[in-house]
Amino acid sequence: MAALPEPFVWREPHFSDLPAVAELEALVFPDPWPQALFASEVGQPERFQRLVFAPNGELAAYLFACWQVDELHILKVATHPRYQGMGLATALLNAAQEEAERRRGIGLTLEVRVSNQRAINLYRYLGYRIIGRRPRYYQNGEDALVMYRQVRPTIFQKLGLR
Ligand SMILES: CC(C)(COP(=O)(O)OP(=O)(O)OC[C@H]1O[C@@H](n2cnc3c(N)ncnc32)[C@H](O)[C@@H]1OP(=O)(O)O)[C@@H](O)C(=O)NCCC(=O)NCCS
Repeated sequence: MAALPEPFVWREPHFSDLPAVAELEALVFPDPWPQALFASEVGQPERFQRLVFAPNGELAAYLFACWQVDELHILKVATHPRYQGMGLATALLNAAQEEAERRRGIGLTLEVRVSNQRAINLYRYLGYRIIGRRPRYYQNGEDALVMYRQVRPTIFQKLGLR
């Protein structure tokens, strides 16, 4: 099972967590999701969601993902600046990968700003590769890179067709 660094703990989100999620979101993203958008995700089927808490109860990191057919799409991953560089995003992304494997998904996808070198490095380290680019994807006109991590061969690969 994906390991979470000591002394953090994790669990699925509840609606009562969402003010803290929205606060952290606004702290780390230039174009944050409003709380209502997170509320529309919590409790829905075909989702994978996890919150990480510090020992003092502070929200340290989170990941929200949704299934798109046989791919798990990472909608959001973020770590509070106080807890960055401690392996929390790595643990969350590894947990998402395990979920994709457990549900017999084909792979994981995500979008990342072309300027977000730290996140791109992390995704590369975890085995994601760049498979596309969405021009002017973000509000400020910045492009997104589409990154993909395969978790099992497609039927085409099994048949040697790709
Ligand atoms: C990007 C982000 C989620 C990373 O979270 P984190 O919890 O700090 O990530 P981790 O500690 O697991 O790993 C990140 C760092 O470790 C590196 N990394 C992790 N494991 C590594 C390893 N074994 N070997 C080499 N590098 C490694 C990453 O490249 C990165 O490097 P740095 O700390 O030297 O800059 C965080 O910086 C963040 O919340 N940023 C703002 C929101 C954001 O950009 N989210 C992603 C949007 S797509």
